[in-house]
Amino acid sequence: MGKIIETSEIKKTYIMGAEKVEALKSVTIDIDKGEYVAFMGPSGSGKSTLMNIIGCLDTPTAGRYVLNHKDVSHMSENELAEIRNKEIGFVFQTFNLLPRASCLENVALPLIYAGFNKSDRQDKAFMALKSVGLEDRVNHKPNELSGGQRQRVAIARALVNDPSIILADEPTGNLDSKTSYDIMNLFDELHQKGNTIIMVTHEDDIAHYAHRIVRLRDGLVETDLVNPNPTKNNFHAVSK
Ligand SMILES: Nc1ncnc2c1ncn2[C@@H]1O[C@H](COP(=O)(O)OP(=O)(O)OP(=O)(O)O)[C@@H](O)[C@H]1O
Ligand SMILES: [Mg+2]
Repeated sequence: MGKIIETSEIKKTYIMGAEKVEALKSVTIDIDKGEYVAFMGPSGSGKSTLMNIIGCLDTPTAGRYVLNHKDVSHMSENELAEIRNKEIGFVFQTFNLLPRASCLENVALPLIYAGFNKSDRQDKAFMALKSVGLEDRVNHKPNELSGGQRQRVAIARALVNDPSIILADEPTGNLDSKTSYDIMNLFDELHQKGNTIIMVTHEDDIAHYAHRIVRLRDGLVETDLVNPNPTKNNFHAVSK
């Protein structure tokens, strides 16, 4: 399968007054279309920094990043925003949903920037909510849902644009273990449908759902290993 992500010797240095923080020293990673990868590593090892660069929220200080055959290393803020809207679906630890908007409106939001008309936005948002098992919660607001359901809304929002890659930074960080496993079931389904998934996690048991585990340490790749036996839950309809 074709490569979707190619980073070559990526560096990221933050300048804090007189101090320099080398968050990434030299990271070279290739990820194929359809892979399911977990990034692990101690706090401060550079996981979020790397995810932000892969997600085009930030650019490297040095090195090259090719996303879907396009060199995005030196793009402007506007160019990056456009690539982001097209290529990336983000899932965050804290869900990042608009509290006053319904599930349907939250999920439809990225489609406004993509220029779809209202009825297309509603149809696509409904289908995305259906794909995460929430078709009967479309008019609920985030505070009328459980934590796991909120994260499923956030995943529906990440999927609605049909992005090339789903990036999830600690997607189960605020969920209990039962709910976390439900979310991992959902990621498994998305992966089986051909989506490319990259997630950051601190938890070994969550990382073991992924088919490849990359460990960072001090801004470098420490290990990059195929997971020979990814965890599988018994498939069941996602609980409501
Ligand atoms: N915006 C910033 N300005 C300055 N330094 C930063 C910034 N963002 C991150 N850093 C520093 O870069 C290093 C890597 O941070 P990063 O957030 O990537 O770590 P992480 O692996 O995601 O950690 P955690 O597991 O705690 O989320 C840390 O030393 C951090 O203090
Ligand atoms: Mg982090």
